[in-house]
Amino acid sequence: MNNTKWWQTAVIYQIYPRSFQDSDGDGIGDLRGIINRLDYLEQLGITAIWLSPVYKSPNDDNGYDISNYQEIMSEFGTMEDMDELIERAKLRNIRIIMDLVVNHTSDEHPWFIEARKGKDNPYRNYYIWRDPVNGGVPNSLRSTFSGSAWEFDEASGQYYLHLFSRRQPDLNWENSKVRQEVWDMMNFWLDKGVGGFRMDVIDLVGKIPDQEITGNGPKLHEYLQDMNRETFGKHDVLTVGETWGATPEVAKLYSDPDRNELSMVFQFEHIGLDQQDGGEKWDLKPLDVSELKQVLAKWQTELGNAGWNSLFWNNHDLPRIVSRWGDDKQYRVQSSKMFAILLHLMKGTPYIYQGEEIGMTNYPIQEISEAQDIETINMYQERIAEGYAKEDIIHSINVKGRDNARTPVQWDHSPNGGFTTGEPWLHVNPNYKEINMEANLKDPDSVFHCYRKLIELRKNNPIVVWGDFELLTRVPDQVFMYFRRYEGETWLVTANFSREATTLELPETGQAGEFIIGNYTRDDVDFKQLQLQPYEAFAVKLA
Ligand code: GLC
Repeated sequence: MNNTKWWQTAVIYQIYPRSFQDSDGDGIGDLRGIINRLDYLEQLGITAIWLSPVYKSPNDDNGYDISNYQEIMSEFGTMEDMDELIERAKLRNIRIIMDLVVNHTSDEHPWFIEARKGKDNPYRNYYIWRDPVNGGVPNSLRSTFSGSAWEFDEASGQYYLHLFSRRQPDLNWENSKVRQEVWDMMNFWLDKGVGGFRMDVIDLVGKIPDQEITGNGPKLHEYLQDMNRETFGKHDVLTVGETWGATPEVAKLYSDPDRNELSMVFQFEHIGLDQQDGGEKWDLKPLDVSELKQVLAKWQTELGNAGWNSLFWNNHDLPRIVSRWGDDKQYRVQSSKMFAILLHLMKGTPYIYQGEEIGMTNYPIQEISEAQDIETINMYQERIAEGYAKEDIIHSINVKGRDNARTPVQWDHSPNGGFTTGEPWLHVNPNYKEINMEANLKDPDSVFHCYRKLIELRKNNPIVVWGDFELLTRVPDQVFMYFRRYEGETWLVTANFSREATTLELPETGQAGEFIIGNYTRDDVDFKQLQLQPYEAFAVKLA
């Protein structure tokens, strides 16, 4: 391929720094901790790290509320540590992708402190202020973290907009000064040699609050084209937008190379499949595997050459996939590997969230006092006030809450899983003695070694990067099978999404050739009588 970009053949690893590795015993992960683990990441084989926010922040939303974009959070270290991380990662051919959180700032950002001083302040228009309507909120926009998106400011008698917590006021992107500030800040980081940006809720920056339009506002793509031209367009970097409502059509607007916007977006259609229609993420319904197949197949085929997919099951906002749609008890290892094999042999750029590669699981809580996450805590209070039963709310939190993915990374069997010598900021999952990095490295059949091998397969086989995708439809609902085809070669990937064994008859598929990877040992692959074990997954070349 002539115009190959490095990020098309890459595998990205997401670090949530607060929970990755503490180096100084304060119970909070830090940059030095990441530097100390670069050998491990190199061994895994990843190309780049997406670093969740490390900037100065009062931590109302764990760093997604930024009070200075050009300073490092003191618990995480210093700018010197950051420069060293970029430098040392580069020596291992690992790039650092920064989290760009510019839909909002912290209420402690100097711009907001100024803006709050009064209607005439030069920074007032950096944020979104409205007069009361009939003595109340300007309209019915809601915050993702519960309640109205409007917060009353006593001093000026106006409301300001916050689509997340009241401590995360929304920036006013209509103001060209705000956009210029963002471009300058991005160039500051690009000059340091970062590998790109993951753009937090970027689909919201074109909002028209008065019409209650938040996502995909009319000027969104104009802003992104300006951003590309003014900042990263001159650099060889990866840019990925977080876009919750994106359809393939919308994704092409962002990622069609001819439009000069972003490299790719995170789409979340598959992530919503266990949520009731019209409900919130807490309103649960079981996953229908046939819907999952359809959604993922659609994304695999519809972008064509006018876009690029990101591939993920997990991030810091989502529960652990093995607990969510797999089996985190009896078949934990098998189902963890099944998700890995299924996703990593698709077309697109895979993202691994810290701990996924060692098979980490959700950690259920009993009481709301054990939760740290603002989204969870606010929702709990709101639903209690609305009369929901406490057990139901706690159940939803244990299935979907964000703390599930944020428990500290389990490195070894020493106290706190080797994450910290102090008191961890969030409980360590008590299963760390069994599930940890050290145990994974020692066991050639571990989840880790499956991920390592999948990354290697992508590096060495153009079919994994470029091959056409085709879903196999004549199979039972719980079996997910697809072909990849490239230059006369065909691979077949199979995953049994069930704790039951099953037998398929697929004589028309032909003859199996070389076995590529799997989560069970098997003697052969016979399509006339294909027996699948619980959560079995494998890839095989067709003869
Ligand atoms: C994104 C982040 C999430 C954060 C929110 C507000 O969805 O991934 O963690 O709370 O934006 O910044």
